[in-house]
Amino acid sequence: MTTEADLQAFLEIATEAALAGGAILQQFWGKLDTIQEKRPGDLVTAADQAAEAAILAVIRRHFPQHQILAEESGHLGNPDSPYLWAIDPLDGTTNYAHQYPFSATSIALLIHEQPQVGVVFDPFHQELFRAATGLGATRNRQPMHVSQTKSLSDSLLVTGFAYDRRETPDNNYAEFCHFTHLTQGVRRGGSASIDLAYVACGCLDGYWERGLSPWDIAAGIVLVQEAGGRVTAYDQSPQQLRSGRLLATNGRIHTALSQELIQIKPLVWDPPVFNAQDQT
Ligand code: IPD
Ligand code: CA
Ligand code: CA
Repeated sequence: MTTEADLQAFLEIATEAALAGGAILQQFWGKLDTIQEKRPGDLVTAADQAAEAAILAVIRRHFPQHQILAEESGHLGNPDSPYLWAIDPLDGTTNYAHQYPFSATSIALLIHEQPQVGVVFDPFHQELFRAATGLGATRNRQPMHVSQTKSLSDSLLVTGFAYDRRETPDNNYAEFCHFTHLTQGVRRGGSASIDLAYVACGCLDGYWERGLSPWDIAAGIVLVQEAGGRVTAYDQSPQQLRSGRLLATNGRIHTALSQELIQIKPLVWDPPVFNAQDQT
């Protein structure tokens, strides 16, 4: 059984790892020689790799017997362990590569597949978001709570678009238009972990996205839940971390947002042909 003291100890190590990763992101800022593409639009840099190495060193030193799922290294460690660390060393790589200062390190601990500890560190604004199940959520070590907004029309939302958006009609474009019309605005931050941290601290009221990986969202899920918010699948069924779809809100707008979301049809649209040469 995992006790409160265990969770607190895991939270401290997750924090140590997130701060180590964030320090590397600051070191590499503006100094990237090469930026590689894993697939169109999906970038990886030396900063992602170096930050991940620093984070892995911390986690492995403290918990050599645990399992790890890290974005750049994949599955590591003991596959039979109930403890799984989900690590995104640089969430917001596209922003980072363009020197748009909105990226974070995201670290979560899942116990029996349930996210229980989450830390998101944004080194560019020096913001540290932390939470663990039953221990509450903090922003720079001060308690944080979701917003009180009650209606979609008073809400400020956030979403994102997965890297397969050019290959699927399920690309979130229709949803983006729909909610831009119904609310005070929809932001596209470019870092799912910060998007969720901002829902948790109340400056955004809700977030939805598809095509996500566990390392993008596991930490943010704990932040939102512990800050008093609600996290489910789009249709309000229990959230499945590996489904890639997530709805996270302050709780008050959850049902309204879900009811809209599940009935939106893909946008009928004749998109321009994407030509990678245009980018050179
Ligand atoms: C991406 C960001 C982005 C989201 C994408 C993610 P990365 O992560 O979180 O906000 O829209 O779906 O893949 O690639 O910058 O780590
Ligand atoms: Ca990510
Ligand atoms: Ca990443």
